[in-house]
Amino acid sequence: MRRAVCPGSYDPPTNGHLDILERASGVFDEVVVAVLINKNKRGLFSVDERMELLADALSHVPNVRIDSWHGLLVDYCRQHDIKAIVKGLRAISDFDYELQMAQMNQQLSGVETLFMPTKPENSFLSSSLVKEVATYGGDVSHLLPETVHTRLVERLADKS
Ligand code: PNS
Repeated sequence: MRRAVCPGSYDPPTNGHLDILERASGVFDEVVVAVLINKNKRGLFSVDERMELLADALSHVPNVRIDSWHGLLVDYCRQHDIKAIVKGLRAISDFDYELQMAQMNQQLSGVETLFMPTKPENSFLSSSLVKEVATYGGDVSHLLPETVHTRLVERLADKS
């Protein structure tokens, strides 16, 4: 069984995330989407909500599993017998930090990181930018799965 993990904050998942997850699911037998819990970052959505949003957006992909994790990614990989991490790369600006993390994770555990280039139409897309634009009333509906967009608009309305 070739299994990979796609870790991230997914706060919230975007079409850029979905593209990488769908393509990774075509390469591996099983893709685990791991929502990483960061105690220092208060998210707009709870970890459970992010997992629900991911499950909804990926319901058409049979070999994807959604999970969450608090701790080192390599410990998650060890516990679940995962040998590969898949990360989307948007631009060269992502590369510096991603390379550092990939090398650290490889040294800590032997787990390999594979980089997948995003589609060009998603290269500017990030969860934080989507939240900022939506906060000020910008239209981000074309950048998000439909359910995510609905929930984002509701959440921002609740907060204001
Ligand atoms: O979506 P993000 O916020 O860019 O994802 C970053 C994430 C969560 C993948 C990264 O911070 C991570 O792997 N965190 C888990 C803790 C860990 O293993 N840190 C050491 C990395 S070398």
